[in-house]
Amino acid sequence: MLYVDGKWVGTDELTVHPEDRGYNFGDGVYEVVRIYKGNMYQWEGHLTRLFRSAREIMLDLPWTAEELSAIAHELLAKNNITSADDATLYLQVTRGVSPRVHDIPKGIRPVIMGFVRRKERPLADMKKGLSAQLVEDIRWLRCDIKTLNLLGAVMVKQYAKDAGAQESILHRSGIVTECSAANVFVVKDNELYTHPANHLILNGITRLDVIALAKANGIIVHEEPFTVDFLKQADEVFATGTTVEVMPIISVDGQAVGGGKIGPVVEKLQQLFEEHIY
Ligand code: PDD
Repeated sequence: MLYVDGKWVGTDELTVHPEDRGYNFGDGVYEVVRIYKGNMYQWEGHLTRLFRSAREIMLDLPWTAEELSAIAHELLAKNNITSADDATLYLQVTRGVSPRVHDIPKGIRPVIMGFVRRKERPLADMKKGLSAQLVEDIRWLRCDIKTLNLLGAVMVKQYAKDAGAQESILHRSGIVTECSAANVFVVKDNELYTHPANHLILNGITRLDVIALAKANGIIVHEEPFTVDFLKQADEVFATGTTVEVMPIISVDGQAVGGGKIGPVVEKLQQLFEEHIY
């Protein structure tokens, strides 16, 4: 069952209005929430970010945090998600339906849509690590907003895939920003480096968790820009995100990073993260 604009519907009953601004412009915001053993992980953080994203695109959400929480919980219940299930919850809000003009029409009603999919944790990849390709970050300058307009992310991911890699690592003129749908960290001399949370990256919930877990365990974290060369010379590289958790990256542009295998700091962070989610 999906939740669409106040109704519970099956996938085959879903219709999208041809002039929904989400459909025409990618004009809306979204969240992807992890469900571990039937429980939403960091729901409050996702909710706060959804409200922030909406505010940044000048979209007034007509629901309270409590109403959105009730919808999320009902999505789990209606889809029979129990403590035996790992899953993801997708929630999006478009600005709504109006005759197609670029500026923001007054008085239109946002349209909400949510669904749940059962999904296992990516444990095999987390043990093996992924290959990555460096790609110029061609996205816009408000990557801090979790907007539905993801064409830049779609294209950079495909460039990486076409080059034979599993993940894309983005850089703006040689400064590493993030991955197409995850944040990126490097380890040098047992200290972590990741791009600061400004307009050039999405401030990931998992990113914040990993920074907090690292600091609580005596690992120094630098939230500062670093170069592609620094990344290539790193002891370890990894991505973080709701879908990838703490994902080692063992090669970049076809060359091994960190000796081409999972390093001790990533392994430690994976273990700390696992303890944190259950
Ligand atoms: N993406 N950076 C970008 C560009 C992202 O799209 C995401 C998440 C992240 C990681 O954020 P978080 O830890 O809060 O998931 C970083 C989601 C999963 C997606 O679009 O599917």
